[in-house]
Order: sequence, then structure tokens, then C-alpha cells
Amino acid sequence: MKIAVAKGDGIGPEIMDAVLKIFAANKVPLEYEFVEMGKWVFDKGHSNGMTKLAKDTIESLGILFKGPMETPKGKGVKSINVTARKTWNTYSNKRDFRTLHGVDTVFSKAGIPIDITVVRENIEDTYGGIEHMLTHDVALSRRFITRPGSLQVIRYAFEMAKLKNARRITCGHKANIMKITDGLFLECFREVAKEYPELKADDVIIDDLCMKLVTRPDQFDVVVLTNLQGDIVSDLCAGLVGGLGFAPSANIGDHISIFEAVHGTAPDIAGKNIANPTALLLSGIAMLRHLGLTENASVIENALLYTLEKGVHTGDFGDKNIPAVNTTAFADAIIANLGQKPEIGARDIMPNKPGTPKPLHLDANPMMVSKEEENEKIVGVDFFIESDEQPSAIAEKCERHAGVKFNLINISNRGTQVWPTGSVYTNLVNQYNVRFESIDASPLNQQDIIGLYVSLSGNFKICSHELLNQWGDKKAFSLAQGQ
Ligand code: NAI
Repeated sequence: MKIAVAKGDGIGPEIMDAVLKIFAANKVPLEYEFVEMGKWVFDKGHSNGMTKLAKDTIESLGILFKGPMETPKGKGVKSINVTARKTWNTYSNKRDFRTLHGVDTVFSKAGIPIDITVVRENIEDTYGGIEHMLTHDVALSRRFITRPGSLQVIRYAFEMAKLKNARRITCGHKANIMKITDGLFLECFREVAKEYPELKADDVIIDDLCMKLVTRPDQFDVVVLTNLQGDIVSDLCAGLVGGLGFAPSANIGDHISIFEAVHGTAPDIAGKNIANPTALLLSGIAMLRHLGLTENASVIENALLYTLEKGVHTGDFGDKNIPAVNTTAFADAIIANLGQKPEIGARDIMPNKPGTPKPLHLDANPMMVSKEEENEKIVGVDFFIESDEQPSAIAEKCERHAGVKFNLINISNRGTQVWPTGSVYTNLVNQYNVRFESIDASPLNQQDIIGLYVSLSGNFKICSHELLNQWGDKKAFSLAQGQ
């Protein structure tokens, strides 16, 4: 089997060399194709941070093992890490956080074991980076949560929970506030949960989840979340088990998967040979399991756990009474311990069963569409307009444009209704949402909306607009606070 390897920037080459040395010592049956990705590739003028050859190689091999990569600041380029995850649709980001014997934390000292897997949606949410300044004062970010995208990651989380023999799978969300976006994610979770009656599936609001994770982390097993919330919660969980040096990550897609550490390039310690390679090694071990190389994975993991138990540590963790070793010496200690088993948490050695790689060639982009609703109609429109007038003055002008097809329903500012009712204590910014609905909820067409757009533009600068859809009796839009 051949995989693509990118060493990365900063501490990347040091920790990747350490991990590949351990793989070689354990005779891991993998060949490596080294590819050009990272800051130095940006600097050479490749705007997406990788060469064409790197892209083609990764697409033909299907597996990328990568070190951390730096995104050049202030050049308007997008993060290579995010681009890679999104381009190749690695829709699930899986991060395992386990108590490691030898890595002291408040929980290990209190005898509270942690074994949490965070599955984070990896493509959607605010990470699309679709952002605009609507006025000089108002920035808008679009947050996409889709049904097919949510189902993909949630199904993966349930399958993974089954493999892990998990007792519980929890959906973290903020559906009480973001009723449509997080509401859709939660709805998908509940739908998929019905296919797995043997698993205890529940949901916890994200703020409560954070509080519970730091007080009773042992009560959680698998947690699935949308992208941004998952990003934050996974770093929180990394903190529970000893920090970023111990946080591995697998970005799983149907065709291409990427394995990397959670941490970045650590520029403050780069080139000093003192970085902790554990997170990248744990990511590599997850990759070996993904490829069916279970025996290599368990032998190496046991050697790592044994080494940690013996107190061997790099400078970023461990018993301060035992001198720290450097990256190379840490890797050599693990190599010397290949074949040893730790007292706690030893993995059973299962023979390798290399998986058959999935066919990688695609002729067209996969289109994911779920069922269309019947009785779809447009019942109104939200216009986002720039204005520094008072709400009543805006309403007076808008009503003049409503004509015979529309009613002006309400006006809100930063999501709070300010007309027809509201409070003078609501601070305003120079961007309003004016909502028109059709008279008697009769269906509208796009020409009706364009007619209103043109008319309204005589009085206001329209920054953007959104159609108000209705499917059967279900309104596909949120109400303003106070509406
Ligand atoms: P960072 O994770 O690189 O460093 C944060 C702190 O943790 C630093 O004090 C660093 O020395 C320490 N640290 C991180 N990994 C360590 C290790 N293996 N051993 C010992 N100490 C370690 O985060 P920061 O400074 O915010 O980001 C630096 C660069 O990394 C940025 O350019 C950022 O864009 C990039 N980055 C890349 C990621 C990736 O490739 N997946 C993920 C996160 C950041």
C-alpha cells in the first residue's frame, strides 16, 4: 500500500521523521510518496498551498498523512488545512481523547478515566468562509448546515460508536437558539438514531455540554457536533487529557482521508528537536487501523503507552523530576519498547487485514440531494437594507412599495424586532432586515420578488435578500426576536 505524506512546516518535519522512524522499526508495510504542500509552496506562488502533482498524487492514492502547515498571514490565502479537508470532502473529523497513563492531569489524579471520541462535521457551518461587509459597520457570515452533509457525518459517528462498543452517543448543538440550522442537524441526528436502537443516543445543548465535559468527562463516550462547535469542544477535550501534544485527528471521507495532529506548527519551538511527536504518532496509529494494519497499530500504541508509563517525556509534559528527552530520543525510546505492553490500557494484538482501497476514480462531482418537499411555495422575502433612519421612517417608505401583492410584516435590526413593536432601548446599526410576506399567504414567484426589489431600491441600498419559503404548513425561515 502506498500513501501520500506531507511533512508540513515548523515542527512538522521533525515529528514526521520521528513517526516514520517508528513505523520503519515496526516494519509497517507502507510505501510513502512525499508531496509538496505547505507554507513554502504558497511562497513559491501556488495559491492553494500545494502543487498540481501533490493534488494528483493524493487523489490517486486516497490517503494523506500530513504534518501541521502554516497559513501565510495577511495574504488573503485560505488555510491549506481547511482547503484540503473541504476539497476532498473529508466530512468527518474524528478525534480520540483518552487518559494516557504517565500523562498527569487533574482527572487522572482524581482517578476519573476519560475515553471520549469527538466527531466534528468538517465541511460546512461558518467554515465556508463566505463573509461580506454589508455596510461599513456590519459583517455577515453565512452558515451552511445541510441535510446530506449532516447525515453523512452523523451516520459516520454512529458507525464509529458501534465499532467502539460505545455506551452512549451525544449530539451537541444550539438548536434552542439556531432553530433552523442546528435544528436541522439535531433532526438528522434523531433520524439516524432510530437506525441504531442498541445505542443510547441523546443530545445536550452546547454550553451545558462544555460544563458537563469539564466536570464529568467520564460520562461521555462519542460526541457529534457541527463544525465550529466541534472545533471548540475538541480542543476542550484535548485539554482534559493533557493538551494538544496528545490530540490526534482523522479527517474521513468516502474517497480520500487525511490523518494529522490537532496542533499547529509550533513556530516557537520549531527546529529545536524538542517537539512532542505523540499526537502525530496517535494520528498515524489511527491511520494504520483505518488501513486494516491493526497489528502494527496495536504494537506501536502499546510501545507508546509503555514508554509514557515509564515516565519518558518531552519538555511539554510529564514529571519535572525526570529530565525531558528530545524528539529523536523520545522516538528511540518507543522503538526500544516495541513488543512491550503497558500495565493500563494495553491494546489486543489483532492480525493485519489490509482493507481493499475504494475505487478512487470519479467522473463527475457527486451530487447529494435528499427528497424534495411537496407543496413548496415562496410566501415572502427578507430584504437586508442599509439605512440609518428610525424604524418608523423606514416602515413608512417600505409600505409605499408593498403594492397589492405584499404586506410589510416587520422590521428587525441585528435580529431584534424594532417595528411594528419594539423598544427604544434597542440599539441600532445601519443595517435592517425588512420582511415582506404575500397577502393571504398566496404563492409568489421570483418576478414578484424582483418587482419589489426594483421598487424598494428607489429608496434604499439593498445589501442582500432571502426568499421566504414554505413547505406545506412548515415555514422555512426564522422569526425575529420579539416577532
Ligand atoms: P500551535 O498548536 O502550533 O502551538 C500552540 C502552543 O502549543 C505553542 O506553545 C507550541 O509550542 C505548543 N505545541 C504545539 N504542538 C506541540 C508539540 N507537538 N509539542 C510540544 N509543544 C507543542 O498553535 P498556533 O501557535 O496557534 O499556530 C501556529 C501555526 O500553526 C499557525 O500558522 C496556524 O495556522 C498553524 N496551524 C496548523 C494546523 C494544522 O496544520 N492542522 C492546526 C493549527 C494551527
